[in-house]
Amino acid sequence: MFCFYRIIIFTVATLLSGAVCQSDNLGIKNGYITITTANFKAQIVRDAQVLASLTPTGSTFDFLPKDLISARAGNGQYHWGDITFRYRRGSSGAWTDGNSATARKAVTSLRAGTGALAASNLAPTLPATVPLNVTREWLDVEGDLGLRFTIENTGNSPVEIGSLGFPAEFNSIFTNRLATDTQRLCSLSDPYLGMDAGYIRANPVRGTGAALVVTPLGDTPLEAYRNLAEPSYAATGYGSQTFEGFYEWQVLSKAWAEKEWAGAKPWNTPSSRTIPPGETLQFGVRFSVAPGGVRDIDSAVRKTGTPVAFGVPGYIIPRGSPSQLFLQADAGVQSMASDPAGSLAVEEVSEASYSITPASTFWGRAKLTVIYADGKTQTIHYHVTKSATDTLSDLGKFLTTEQWYNDTSDPFGRAPSVMSYDYEARSIVTQDPRVWIAGLSDEGGVGAYLAATAKQAIQPDAAEVTKLEAFIDQVLWPTVQTDDFAVKKSIFYYDPSGLPQYSYSSNIDWTSWTSWNEDAAYAIDRAYDYVHVAAAYWSLYRVARAYPSLVKTHDWEWYLNQAYRTVIRGMQNDVGYNRLGLMGETVFGEILTDLTREALTSQASTLTSAMKSRATQWDGEEVPYGSEMAWDSTGQEGVYYWAKYFGLANTATKTVNSVLGYMPTVPHWGWNGNARRYWDNVYGGKLKRIERQIHHYGSGLNALVLLSAFRSDPADTYLLQVGYGGTSGPLSNINEAGFAAASFHSWPDTLKWDGYSGDYGPGFLGLVLGSGTYIVRHEAFGLLAYGGVLSAEGNGAVVNVQTTGPVSRRVFVGPLGVTLTVDAGSVRSFSYEEASGSVSLTLTQLPGAPKAAAAVLWIETNDAAVKYRVSTPSGVTSERLGWRVPLPANGDVVVELRS
Ligand SMILES: *[C@@H]1O[C@H](CO)[C@@H](O)[C@H](O)[C@H]1NC(C)=O
Ligand SMILES: *[C@@H]1O[C@H](CO)[C@@H](O)[C@H](O)[C@H]1NC(C)=O
Repeated sequence: MFCFYRIIIFTVATLLSGAVCQSDNLGIKNGYITITTANFKAQIVRDAQVLASLTPTGSTFDFLPKDLISARAGNGQYHWGDITFRYRRGSSGAWTDGNSATARKAVTSLRAGTGALAASNLAPTLPATVPLNVTREWLDVEGDLGLRFTIENTGNSPVEIGSLGFPAEFNSIFTNRLATDTQRLCSLSDPYLGMDAGYIRANPVRGTGAALVVTPLGDTPLEAYRNLAEPSYAATGYGSQTFEGFYEWQVLSKAWAEKEWAGAKPWNTPSSRTIPPGETLQFGVRFSVAPGGVRDIDSAVRKTGTPVAFGVPGYIIPRGSPSQLFLQADAGVQSMASDPAGSLAVEEVSEASYSITPASTFWGRAKLTVIYADGKTQTIHYHVTKSATDTLSDLGKFLTTEQWYNDTSDPFGRAPSVMSYDYEARSIVTQDPRVWIAGLSDEGGVGAYLAATAKQAIQPDAAEVTKLEAFIDQVLWPTVQTDDFAVKKSIFYYDPSGLPQYSYSSNIDWTSWTSWNEDAAYAIDRAYDYVHVAAAYWSLYRVARAYPSLVKTHDWEWYLNQAYRTVIRGMQNDVGYNRLGLMGETVFGEILTDLTREALTSQASTLTSAMKSRATQWDGEEVPYGSEMAWDSTGQEGVYYWAKYFGLANTATKTVNSVLGYMPTVPHWGWNGNARRYWDNVYGGKLKRIERQIHHYGSGLNALVLLSAFRSDPADTYLLQVGYGGTSGPLSNINEAGFAAASFHSWPDTLKWDGYSGDYGPGFLGLVLGSGTYIVRHEAFGLLAYGGVLSAEGNGAVVNVQTTGPVSRRVFVGPLGVTLTVDAGSVRSFSYEEASGSVSLTLTQLPGAPKAAAAVLWIETNDAAVKYRVSTPSGVTSERLGWRVPLPANGDVVVELRS
């Protein structure tokens, strides 16, 4: 038997399609053994005894890619039941690898002991030199499926195990599937690297139906999560845009940490274990069903005896402000400690409820280790930011100084602008073979200027606005756009003969398809590019409207009209992808809202028709989340926005579920609210590889869907837990100096932010449009504030909240179903009384920002019958369908709302 690797397939695949042979090292030709427990029906391959199929009882949904097993039966292709390890005799010297998948042989079937459904000895499929006798059992664990390994040291000297991993396979193979089949058949998984509280969660991609959790069976911490290398065959395309690839649950990781991962700071302390001669170690995992789906995952984990943590507002938290942590476990807490020491102060508020306050000077990753009285260890992973205000001002400053490109001799006309930046080289990216990164278009090239302009909408700065006006007047409008509002795909391009005076770097390979010439770069056919330009104009519209003295070159009407015309131009027939949901297009909704508020009725009606036509189309599609990629997590935002706007309830609900299908919540800042993205490093990052990206722009954008859905249904607190994690993501990308990276590399050999700013901007736009202070009544944990610090008086009759989030202009009071938004200044604090429904807002000028004469306050209620009016202060007038509240130059104004 022989098989072709991917690289060969690219040249011959079309000729051979389907004819590429694939080895059957697993022995699938000899069939399967079916094993059932109360909660599962499973199949293991008879020869290899690895898991081939896993279906919850009463369901037909298979969490494993059994339908592709013949394409995954070769050596080096991993399945549940495989084991990888590294060992050495004694306690020094080189490590030796053991791996049950490398050279498969049928294992030796053993008579299954008590509780075991199948058992085997792995000796035939491991190297003969391994001094360990490995036994594997598939177990019935209280109706769940268990997988347990017993490892015996059969030699006569101690053996140190420096790595031990269980490959984790799920049906996340989208290759060659129709979108409807992907949605029907596939699942996505993510880890919680929480040691004894660690687990893997998996759920159908569509976000509905039972979910699956894999928790420790016995003493089996989830210490590290290692990406597995597999051969990539055409039939599945391992490690591609349609198949991210698999990982393994690592119980022990020392051998990798000291070698391949030596440059990275691991999530958990790498460890090893030593087995004395004749002794054994046991490790295992347990598969359980969360029958209620994703919202039921914490409870399914808890039922296995595994501790569960719930952090509010999540795990990306500002220094100096308290956040909350709730723990649920079989045993009491014995100790809690932070790493670095002193980074987090912990105070017990009541039983199992803690206040976590990062030190006022700390910044960066902080790990909280909880030790329970029964000996279990749990790690909870935080990312501490500066205060929200400082984080935003750092970002604005960095973008408009370090990333400010002012070489007006540039033949591409890119100056002055806020350009892509390479933080590792400490320089602006003026050239990249992916021309758009240096060409001020595409997500990869707009990240910097989009973040800089969107920042002004929530925290304007006079000097920054002046620079951005120059950018708009001298680059964005005359060069990135054509004079009929079309948007180019890049204004940097590769044309050495046309531009002999320009020195293209000789260190760059310019032969790739991404090194467009002028014609290709100046094409105006990519609808995605229009969103960023419209968002930049809309942000400046907001500045011009609330802070008119800050703008010098145009008034608000010009900016709003530019935004509007750009959106409409993007909807014309010569622009591709405009019938798909576009990342960031929630800003189209903001533009429509502002046109309406400004009584620009004809523009509002044109925009409404254009959006309605798309929404109607989506409402008729089974999977309306198309993209320029084969599978994506970008279309949902627009589909949801307009489905909700036009009252297409089924599509709106389906879309929320779709987002929940790829956006998990776990007690780790990196995965909490981290919408699945895994290929955009190739298009916008410096380190180009396919890997689970942490807080790429999907987090901030998909959070818009969940936060909006939550505002409409404040009883569904899961939406807020995930959504707030997502909207906080873009804060973690901003480093101490103010540089914002495209995403964080999750592979354990790297664990760092990408060097490029790349496509950071759209996620930040999501934060601007969706973040705020959210108050919710949680079924288990009571009244909670996300993006604020809550206190109650009069036995809880009056609730006071101090805002701490990055967007202090949006407040959602869940128990009253009311959303309050101001366009200027800042809501310093607010209070409300649930019984009467009254709300009081304390407005102030934004700290460190220019002064606004007034703020317009908009009040939206979930119950249309509830109408609020402003009772104090005097001098409040109606404006733009809201209330105009004069702001004092110094000090606060208290606005009282009565329903
Ligand atoms: C290895 O373990 C099996 C049980 O899986 C046992 O039957 C066998 O005797 C052991 N071999 C050695 C060399 O200890
Ligand atoms: C560009 O900016 C640098 C640094 O701020 C400054 O020294 C230089 O004079 C500027 N050049 C132009 C052409 O404005």
